[in-house]
Amino acid sequence: MSDSAPPPANPPEERDVGVGHVLDHVREPEELKLPAVCEFRGVTKTYNYGEPNAFTAIQDVNFAVEDIPNKGEFVSIVGPSGCGKSTILRLIAGLEPQHPATHGEVRVLGKPITKPGADRGMVFQDYTSFDHRTVLDNVTFGLECAGIPRDVRNELGRKWIQRVGLDVDKDIDKYPHELSGGMRQRVAIARTLILRPRIILMDEPFGALDPVTRMNMQNLLVRLWRAVRATVFFVTHSIEEAVYLGDRVYIFSSSPGTVLEELTVEAPNRPAMEMQKEQKFQETVYYIRDLIARLEEGKD
Ligand SMILES: Nc1ncnc2c1ncn2[C@@H]1O[C@H](COP(=O)(O)OP(=O)(O)O)[C@@H](O)[C@H]1O
Ligand SMILES: [Mg+2]
Repeated sequence: MSDSAPPPANPPEERDVGVGHVLDHVREPEELKLPAVCEFRGVTKTYNYGEPNAFTAIQDVNFAVEDIPNKGEFVSIVGPSGCGKSTILRLIAGLEPQHPATHGEVRVLGKPITKPGADRGMVFQDYTSFDHRTVLDNVTFGLECAGIPRDVRNELGRKWIQRVGLDVDKDIDKYPHELSGGMRQRVAIARTLILRPRIILMDEPFGALDPVTRMNMQNLLVRLWRAVRATVFFVTHSIEEAVYLGDRVYIFSSSPGTVLEELTVEAPNRPAMEMQKEQKFQETVYYIRDLIARLEEGKD
């Protein structure tokens, strides 16, 4: 009837899904336009290497994130539980026993990681404040370690307490046990951001919060991130959270983990409550959820 070309046997790999765009492969350092702020080159981590209980948590992980000047990038990491997400973050942080990698190399700003450093800050899910320190003394802890005089660090501490939405007059002298979960995570965020790290590592930081507090914290994080312009690696179980907050989403395969897909997603340019209701947003969420569900199924 017509001599038009038959449809391709395989649909093109690269495609748009809702507010996301699925790349046809995970980018490696050589492909970036800008130098990498963080790169993994053939990274494998085997716990208890060489022993009978050796366990390979991640295998041959390769990816690279650009050092975008005056902006940074927000990278969300999702994947089945136990696929090595925390291992990845702690390798970047240079924390044992994840660090050092068994094979391959983790680089930050072009240099191999040898230990933890002030250029990288971490926020965990568990409330990690010191029980015997007040909010102000928790927030300024890192400055104290760096030998900054008390008056200078306290002034900066007050600013950050305000920036994370705590009440300077009411909350500053409280101890962690007097704070709600959301307030404690605000302290943890202030304590990390006050040091102005180039890379912020967040391991399920809002995982223990109720849905409303969580959404408020997401909006707060978007505002703060725009101000500090760092690169963020954000691990979460919530696909909504990953898609909402991220510029980019890495989807990890089941253990031993590796990056299965890389997506770019629309930036959080409207409030969480609004954006997360949209159909296009939900399409991206379902796409990722299906992918992870299939990975979980195939695990046993
Ligand atoms: N210190 C360790 N020793 C032995 N196995 C570990 C250690 N830490 C993590 N693992 C194992 O490595 C795998 C990946 O762990 P993790 O990075 O915490 O995964 P995720 O954060 O994705 O849930 C899991 O199976 C976990 O049990
Ligand atoms: Mg984890």
